[in-house]
Amino acid sequence: MFHIDPDIRKAKTMPSEFYTDERFFELSKEKIFARTWQFAGRTEDLSVVTPIDVVGEPLLLTKADSGLHCMSNVCTHRGKILVEEPCEANLIRCGYHGRRFSLDGKFLSMPEFEGVESFPSVADDLASVPVDHTGGFSFVSLDPVDMLAEFVSDEAIMPMGKGKLKLSSTNEYRVNAHWALYCENYLEGFHIPFVHKSLNEIVDFVTYSTELFRYASVQTGYEADGKLAARYLFIFPNTMFNFYPWGVSVNVVRPVSSSESVVEYLTYVSDESLVDEGAGADLHGVELEDEAIVESVQRGIRSRYYSHGRYSPTREQGTHHFHRLIAEFFGQ
Ligand code: FES
Ligand SMILES: [Fe+2]
Repeated sequence: MFHIDPDIRKAKTMPSEFYTDERFFELSKEKIFARTWQFAGRTEDLSVVTPIDVVGEPLLLTKADSGLHCMSNVCTHRGKILVEEPCEANLIRCGYHGRRFSLDGKFLSMPEFEGVESFPSVADDLASVPVDHTGGFSFVSLDPVDMLAEFVSDEAIMPMGKGKLKLSSTNEYRVNAHWALYCENYLEGFHIPFVHKSLNEIVDFVTYSTELFRYASVQTGYEADGKLAARYLFIFPNTMFNFYPWGVSVNVVRPVSSSESVVEYLTYVSDESLVDEGAGADLHGVELEDEAIVESVQRGIRSRYYSHGRYSPTREQGTHHFHRLIAEFFGQ
């Protein structure tokens, strides 16, 4: 459906229809988001029962004695959503007619069902959904194309500093742009000198580097004296782990429509004394600068005179890799 040449010097960027055509937006939910691992939070921060939404699919994460489980959040009787808010509980009871399930999703009981034939059966259990964790963070996938370990390794997710990470704040930004435009902007440091004047004074453009992995990429920024300023880990298709000396900022880009996204910010701090220093000091300011650019691109790609561009071989490897993955997933 899409072809991005593996040779960055020959390749053309993603055609603009990918972003503007509503059909491709819908298709990307099935082709990309259902087949990859979606960030669900840090395992220790989750309640015993936590409802989550993965591209419109209502799911439940539960901490049972047997470990972490993920399952459908839809009652197998007449389809009510079972749990609306995170809670501590030792079983799940439907609020419509009282069907009960264990924390690992097995049907337990149902009033007024005596005499029903071949009941209960496995179809009355809650469908189970793949869940896995790495570095203390949980991810779920509706239909994973590969194991979580192929997307991200334990060492890639290691914080820069020592000390225990603590969730210190969560925030949401609404961006008037396609989710992929937001991600591909994140995937290059090329724009830093042009867009982020204050960040550019901290991060050395010459030594800024990008490494590519099967479903991830890592960008590393150093200060002028060679000190590590930040490490930016991108896990295809929409999760960003930004490592700073003070801790980690996790950003998750949630698609809303072909022209709107929500970016969740979760801030985990291990060393409070470093929060106001370096590349991770003014994340809000940098976010607003990125949003203004990405929203401008969103308007630009609608132009009849724009269809696609070309890549800088030295500065846009991450964006090229991202487009290659989109094309690959659409071809599956
Ligand atoms: S819909 Fe859940 S018990 Fe009826
Ligand atoms: Fe940026």
